[in-house]
Amino acid sequence: MRLSDRVKGISPSPTLAVDARAKKLQAQGVDVVNFGVGEPDFDTPEHVCDAAISAIRGGFTRYTPAAGTMELREAICARLGRDLALEYRPDEVVVSVGAKHSLFNAVMALCDPGDEVLIPAPYWVTYPEQVKLAGATPVIVPADETHGFRVTRDALEERVSRRTRLLILNSPGNPSGAVYRREEIEALAEFVVARDIYLISDEVYDRLVYDGHRHVSPASCGPEVKARTVLINAVSKTYAMTGWRIGYAACHRDLARAMGEFQGHVTSNPTSISQKAALAALDGPDAPVEAMRREFERRRDYMAAELATMPGMTASVPEGAFYVFPNISGLLKPQSGGNHRFAGSDDLAAFLLEEARVATVAGKGFGSDLHLRFSYATSFERIQAGVARLREVLARL
Ligand SMILES: Cc1ncc(COP(=O)(O)O)c(C=O)c1O
Repeated sequence: MRLSDRVKGISPSPTLAVDARAKKLQAQGVDVVNFGVGEPDFDTPEHVCDAAISAIRGGFTRYTPAAGTMELREAICARLGRDLALEYRPDEVVVSVGAKHSLFNAVMALCDPGDEVLIPAPYWVTYPEQVKLAGATPVIVPADETHGFRVTRDALEERVSRRTRLLILNSPGNPSGAVYRREEIEALAEFVVARDIYLISDEVYDRLVYDGHRHVSPASCGPEVKARTVLINAVSKTYAMTGWRIGYAACHRDLARAMGEFQGHVTSNPTSISQKAALAALDGPDAPVEAMRREFERRRDYMAAELATMPGMTASVPEGAFYVFPNISGLLKPQSGGNHRFAGSDDLAAFLLEEARVATVAGKGFGSDLHLRFSYATSFERIQAGVARLREVLARL
């Protein structure tokens, strides 16, 4: 079949692929510990489910405005005000089918073929693919592991060009768990303004920060950078609502209008029922969010400490999200610093799945073949079981 060049250029999502492989093994009766997942293992809070059921029963089952209901956009503005002291109006907010969709709208509304987009590595797998779909060119900027995987202004200055249109920033970060400090965010905000470019700030893990750190949005660094920032968030990770598919973008009104119109021709509105559920989540109690955060922090402490002492691995303690991203170069072939047989992260991930029945995601898809991503969005007991299996298999090498 003749497919468009556009879709032929897409790399399949490695995170979804590993999840599919792990689930296939599980379906065959194999007991796999799944560290590959990118979603909270908690249930959606009860009051959120109740709101959705009421929406169905009450007949709230028709089209809504393409950019989302007014009440939900108002609740999003209130939340941005409450959590980040940011002032947005409902006409500066677009609700979409998950943060992924919000990101796509933003990239499509901002980039033309020939534009370049700065993406710090390691990066979430979807960014380069969306940039390519828009006909633009991803420019990968390494964020040093010794600097906690947080990109510096100097590194960005080395790669910026006349064609640079956009920087995509993700803090707290997937896969590294990196959380940028206020002064670092301020330096990047200055860079964006000085270079006259736009910034997509993916903040989907903003409530999952540990050790007393606070999430800082670049949009809070002054009106100039706020006008150039597309703040992306979702209810997915914060409220354990990945399947409900509600994300949002907050940005300059002209851009929001363009994104809303674009979305109007691609999906129309996000699901009416899910919008009611998202409203209940945003307006509801904070206790379930904080309880989940505390449990993630407990798991992180355990998992990072265990992985740091695994044969051949080194791991720092991530400060946000729900992933540990250890360096595996000690397990790779000599040219990568180790004395083992593994050619790269793919090879090691496949070995761990087959031999230890532990699913992880190879760092290669995130822009680093020297790392492996472990999600701790699974119960403490399963994490302990998986860690024991890894230790046993790696000790045999
Ligand atoms: C950094 C990052 N951004 C966006 C998303 C997508 O979120 P959503 O499920 O709301 O589309 C994910 C999901 O894994 C993510 O890790």
